[in-house]
Amino acid sequence: MIVFKLTAEISEFLAKKKETGSTIGFVPTMGALHPGHISLINSSVAGNSLTVCSIFVNPTQFNDKKDFEHYPITLEQDIDMLEKAGCDVLFLPAVSEIYPNGTDTAKQYELGYLETILEGKYRPGHFQGVCAVVDRLLEIVQPHRLYLGQKDYQQCMVIRKMVELTGAATQIEIAPTLRADDGLALSSRNMRLNAEERALAVNIYESLCFIKREINTGNLQVLKLRAVNFLTEYGFKVDYVEIADATDLRLIDQWDGHTKLVALIAATLDQVRLIDNMLL
Ligand code: PAJ
Repeated sequence: MIVFKLTAEISEFLAKKKETGSTIGFVPTMGALHPGHISLINSSVAGNSLTVCSIFVNPTQFNDKKDFEHYPITLEQDIDMLEKAGCDVLFLPAVSEIYPNGTDTAKQYELGYLETILEGKYRPGHFQGVCAVVDRLLEIVQPHRLYLGQKDYQQCMVIRKMVELTGAATQIEIAPTLRADDGLALSSRNMRLNAEERALAVNIYESLCFIKREINTGNLQVLKLRAVNFLTEYGFKVDYVEIADATDLRLIDQWDGHTKLVALIAATLDQVRLIDNMLL
């Protein structure tokens, strides 16, 4: 695996590869890699002649300074996992490579409704930061395919919208959420849970399964409230338990029995905020 730190160097390398007919798959990450990230690398390796991964803890997408400061960094282990998975190129930029004009001058993306709900509501500015970094990374890497995880359902929709807005020529591939044996969605933030919290964390997944089992046509408020109460009893601070139209994330309170739905949860255990979702 070749490691690049400079934009000019990786761009030149990849442009040459494209000229000779290579197809490029790209997996952007913030590091602290786990098998969920590696499943995206595997999909890219299977579908392209060259796979590029980036590791960059993007300061502009953290609305909470403490969350940024505590974000786990495990670079040596990450490199080892990427090598084993057959990743060809790792991009490890400094902040100045991604934001040459500083982090305050970023352009605004017209995300509309998508930015006002769920993560957009609870993490103001978060998706603008995600768009800024992914837009910039796409400009540098110019991949044929961009690999994202369903684990971050709303992020997939936001990035799809950003790509529509910018006209970037990349195809978005969404991979299913990889889970631990008990069902907890793999996440870099799980590393910050102690043993007791780790055991409790599975209740987010259990709540999603409960909603999937119990959902019926008509009013969904009671069902959502039961899930909130369940999580609160286990010590979670719940930001939201929501049910939305899986195609556009319009929040649904009354189900017609036909609309394809997704349930989404964000909840904090001690200082660690976890999100998960499930198609119903
Ligand atoms: P990060 O949280 O590191 O995730 C990188 C990619 O891995 C995302 O597309 C995410 O959805 C996917 N992923 C995370 N957990 C997963 C799991 N359990 N199963 C499958 N895929 C999983 O998401 C980000 O970084 C950043 O916001 C980023 C897009 C890199 C922009 O900074």
